[in-house]
Amino acid sequence: MTTQTTRKKRTPGGPQAAGSAGAVRPQVVLLGTGGTIAGTSPRVGDDVGYTAAQRGIGTLLGTLGPALQAGPGRGVDLQSEQVAQIDSKDMSHAVWRRLAERAAWHLGRPEVAGVVVTHGTDTLEETAYLLHRVLAPAKPLVLTAAMRPADALLADGPQNLLDAITAAAQGPGQGLGGVMLALAGRLWAGAQARKVHPYRLDAFDAGDAGALAHVEQGRLRLLRTWPPAGLEPLGLQVLAADIWPEVQIVTSHAGADGRLVDLLLDSGVQGLVVACTGNGSIHHDLLAALLRAQRQGVMLLRALRQGSGCIVAGDAVGLPDAGSLTPAQARVELLLRLLARQA
Ligand code: SIN
Repeated sequence: MTTQTTRKKRTPGGPQAAGSAGAVRPQVVLLGTGGTIAGTSPRVGDDVGYTAAQRGIGTLLGTLGPALQAGPGRGVDLQSEQVAQIDSKDMSHAVWRRLAERAAWHLGRPEVAGVVVTHGTDTLEETAYLLHRVLAPAKPLVLTAAMRPADALLADGPQNLLDAITAAAQGPGQGLGGVMLALAGRLWAGAQARKVHPYRLDAFDAGDAGALAHVEQGRLRLLRTWPPAGLEPLGLQVLAADIWPEVQIVTSHAGADGRLVDLLLDSGVQGLVVACTGNGSIHHDLLAALLRAQRQGVMLLRALRQGSGCIVAGDAVGLPDAGSLTPAQARVELLLRLLARQA
């Protein structure tokens, strides 16, 4: 784990610094976990054949140099810490726990205005949802990422990182806090965001919920406030278990059957998310196996395959549903419910 501190001279327009001379400059902590934002490519201009998680968070911060001197990041005190260095497709429970612990620790420091996490885009929606449920912080915890590697001819990472710093420093003054994502000039609620494109720079949206804000020239243009009042965090202790429950995702589709569910039952699965068709419908052969699993104590949750909307109440299936969560986020929700039950 490395720590680097850079200090800037002038005061930004952020909430912590606004007001009288001598006000404390906002302090923002950057936690690096890898991803394409830290990736490098063996061939100049290759934005798909790269290796993620090659550059440290201190190096990524270094690329912001001029923007920190004269641009929107001026006046923010920045510290960085490398929490992990992985391609986020390989995200593990151990990294989640470590990240949640480090984020909670820094957010608990009175002098810290907010925390920024650099992360891969592939499981970003899962990590964001986990941090939202476990920490539900009042201060901004802003995750950011990139669709092109750090050494791309036209890399998107530096602007995204700068926007995340802006959100962390200025968010509270504009009614924004909690877990958020900063990508391609917009802020998304961590509990609602999802990856919707494998290549485009604006690869995220939030289903029906829409964005929270635009980030333009180092300023936030607010669309709605976040987080809602009264969120209760599960707390870090929910992640303490050495062995996490087994929760899998099965998909309903043409020709689906129950064989996979029966195999998972035999292997001791404790939770199943069903990625459903339509308004939460499930192939009748798969449903029969799921009901068998439910009778044996497996926790079930339905989510929608199509990536937006939520199951409209009153449908015939009657199994619990995960609202507007994606199947991957619903899996995190089920995991946390099972962890909370055994904690
Ligand atoms: C990753 O998720 O770590 C790689 C892909 C990306 O960041 O876009």
